[in-house]
Amino acid sequence: PTLHVVTPTYSRPVQKAELTRLANTFLHVPNLHWILVEDSPRRTPLVIRLLRETSLNYTHLNVETPRNYKLRGDTRDPRIPRGTMQRNLALRWLRETFSSNNRHSQPGIVYFADDDNTYSLELFEEMRSTRKVSVWPVAFVGGLRYESPKVNTLGMVYGWKTVFDPHRPFAIDMAGFAVNLRLILFKPQAYFKLRGVKGGYQESSLLRELVTLNDLEPKAANCTKVLVWHTRTEKPVLVNEGKKGFTDSNVEI
Ligand code: UGA
Ligand code: MN
Repeated sequence: PTLHVVTPTYSRPVQKAELTRLANTFLHVPNLHWILVEDSPRRTPLVIRLLRETSLNYTHLNVETPRNYKLRGDTRDPRIPRGTMQRNLALRWLRETFSSNNRHSQPGIVYFADDDNTYSLELFEEMRSTRKVSVWPVAFVGGLRYESPKVNTLGMVYGWKTVFDPHRPFAIDMAGFAVNLRLILFKPQAYFKLRGVKGGYQESSLLRELVTLNDLEPKAANCTKVLVWHTRTEKPVLVNEGKKGFTDSNVEI
């Protein structure tokens, strides 16, 4: 199958570095289709060029998150739905492009890969065999070394090894699951909820529309291996740029 990897991204000093790192990872993955969705009113020259210069198979989309969704100040406030509209646009694109009576219909897997995480190549091989929804541990989330689905001796997921709100229907980070494209097409109304979603419930808002706990397929050696890390990039200190900017603003970083 084709791996459709959906990445929301937004303009900031480290954007090009993040996307370069991501592209370098994806270049090692066979049959990958990168759906890069900019949180911006239009596709930006920086991202257009970056995509053109990689030899990756990609689709470049954009949708701007309305200002009123972005709270001022603390960018780590869990109430801000970061990347949600962008992921939903990608879901719509996938449905429009691959809807079942379309002759382009072909096997695929959908994975939501934020632009700042760290992905092992093994992860992409694990998700390739996803029949409905596959799941695995994610490092550095929820105040733990890693969070993980709980898997019983029969290889069934029966809960979540998390401290932060373990009673969520799907207590799993965005980086911890992949969905078969067929299921996305079969449930055309399934989207990430944008309003009234408490912190940590965004993933559940989509997954509950698609599957129940019994359907989940544990990967990464029955969820005993960490193949993805929820890393976050430090904001660079640019104080010496001053108000007008010290360095040449024509030089892209
Ligand atoms: C955590 C989860 O891992 C995210 O999948 C989830 O979207 C997020 O919380 C949330 O619910 O708000 P976190 O590291 O806090 O992730 O979020 P970011 O990495 O800052 O953002 C997630 C994605 O959205 C990134 O790919 C980022 O580039 C993108 N994003 C962020 C935007 O497109 N626009 C923004 O204004 C901010
Ligand atoms: Mn992140």
